[in-house]
Amino acid sequence: MPHFLDLDRTPREDLRAILDTARAMKAARGDRPRGTPDDALPLEGRVVALIFEKPSTRTRISFDVGARQMGATTMVLSGADMQLGHGETVGDTARVLSRYVDLVMIRTFGAEILHEMAEHATVPVINGLTDSSHPCQLMADVMTYEEHRGPIEGARVAWMGDGNNVAQSFLQAAERFGFDMTFSGPEQLDPDPRLMERLRASGRDARIERDPARAVADADLIVTDTWVSMGDAESSRQRRHNLLRPYQVNEALLGAAPESALVMHCLPAHRGEEITDAVLDGPRSVVFDEAENRLHAQKAIMRWCVGA
Ligand code: CP
Repeated sequence: MPHFLDLDRTPREDLRAILDTARAMKAARGDRPRGTPDDALPLEGRVVALIFEKPSTRTRISFDVGARQMGATTMVLSGADMQLGHGETVGDTARVLSRYVDLVMIRTFGAEILHEMAEHATVPVINGLTDSSHPCQLMADVMTYEEHRGPIEGARVAWMGDGNNVAQSFLQAAERFGFDMTFSGPEQLDPDPRLMERLRASGRDARIERDPARAVADADLIVTDTWVSMGDAESSRQRRHNLLRPYQVNEALLGAAPESALVMHCLPAHRGEEITDAVLDGPRSVVFDEAENRLHAQKAIMRWCVGA
């Protein structure tokens, strides 16, 4: 079953093929008004269930719009409104959904919930974010980098701040697409060391650099994310802010980076915290291209999942 669960579970050549499809579909839409369907409707007659156990703007809307552009019917479901949020097992939910719909995307908490869904579903399941990864975001991010700078292979990405789920997917993307990573954040919030090791074992560089200015000195891309992710205890907010403040992406930090370095943030941003207005709205920021490319990348992921 071609589930899209994580980058390290998807063959490299398939990830590359998905990006090729995404680029082609984006180009084919040209200046078409946003509400109109694509010329080809590869998902016509199919039903896509989009389940959210956490809040979302981009993932919710880009999956919904993308599926509709390809001719599918969609259902956006809140976990709390389903029996899933009231004691029904993930496995039973997966079995039942598989009798009704052709594709399931789920945003949930622990990765074990996603994997249980995939284990029991007889239709493809897509990871729309868990506490440990966000692979759809990375497909859009790699697509965006390559639109601006060409092949990402051999580039260096500097991650600033919390080693959260998006940071961990960056490490997986680095292994799959062949780029190097510098992680710069407090030791208490390092990403999973096994992902750093796996990247090194693949022959790429995975570096930890506690000094933010040194971390960006050779970066082709600087990336950050919110200091308090969905699922982090609200009581840890002040502690996390204190730990992460030195890693803010601001104009002074960009002054230590090569002039060609791009800036990404998967959004939502907390302006004035992990990133300043001047950087987010500045000439090196490609954050809104990233947000748009969620649509194109996920359309290609859905096609890959159903073989259409
Ligand atoms: N980047 C991202 O996944 O955004 P949402 O939380 O709004 O879906």
